[in-house]
Amino acid sequence: MARRKKIYEGKAKILYEGPEPGTLVQYFKDDATAFNAEKRAVIEGKGVLNNRLSEFFMTGLTQLGIPNHFIRRLNMREQLIRQVEIIPLEVIVRNVSAGSMAKRLGMEEGVQLPRPIIEFSLKDDKLGDPLVPEEYITAFGWASQQDLDDIVQLAIRVNDFMSGVMYGVGIKLVDFKIEVGRIWDGDYQRLVVADEISPDSCRLWDIETGAKFDKDVFRRDLGSLTDAYTEVARRLGVMPSNA
Ligand code: C5P
Repeated sequence: MARRKKIYEGKAKILYEGPEPGTLVQYFKDDATAFNAEKRAVIEGKGVLNNRLSEFFMTGLTQLGIPNHFIRRLNMREQLIRQVEIIPLEVIVRNVSAGSMAKRLGMEEGVQLPRPIIEFSLKDDKLGDPLVPEEYITAFGWASQQDLDDIVQLAIRVNDFMSGVMYGVGIKLVDFKIEVGRIWDGDYQRLVVADEISPDSCRLWDIETGAKFDKDVFRRDLGSLTDAYTEVARRLGVMPSNA
């Protein structure tokens, strides 16, 4: 069997060379990591669920004209994506206090924020993805001021879409992370949502009960991660058994 060229292996995904120039195949692993990979497990079926859920969210973005890297799903664990130049930032959008923000500010989790708050972390595992101010980003050339303005607009549009979709199935979108990539067309660049959008990179709480349906279930040992992600897929009508 022909071996595909592996371009990159991350904690939860592998990227292979795609069938056409400018494309990649994104493979979703079952590996779960937290706390900068200090906690690890293999969670059977997670890759299948995240492949389907990321397809669902990215397709929804496309329908609204929000540019992203998704082309089409290939099989249970793989999707075809556009090759992009990843901007080395994690773009985090928060609607409700939780996680590192609640800890940093000594805030309780679950407080509705006055407006969506966007923050940036540097993608660097060795440093534990530190929060970085915009000044660092522009001074060190990770992104220009124009890029940052465009990234904020993109993040707000993703938040509006995702919040609405989740609200429709009784789930509050507490926060999430996206990554943004550049696609070059000659001297011009387009910024697109890249990586994945899945319960690995969001906080999702049941509106009625507050039950968590995201990676905090794994981080905080709250039960079965597969059950939590399956519940999100079930409510959205995204059933992995139909793959
Ligand atoms: O940990 P923190 O509160 O900063 O996370 C904010 C949001 O970003 C959460 O939804 C979390 O799952 C996501 N995140 C991520 N990848 C990271 C850091 C945070 O998907 N490396």
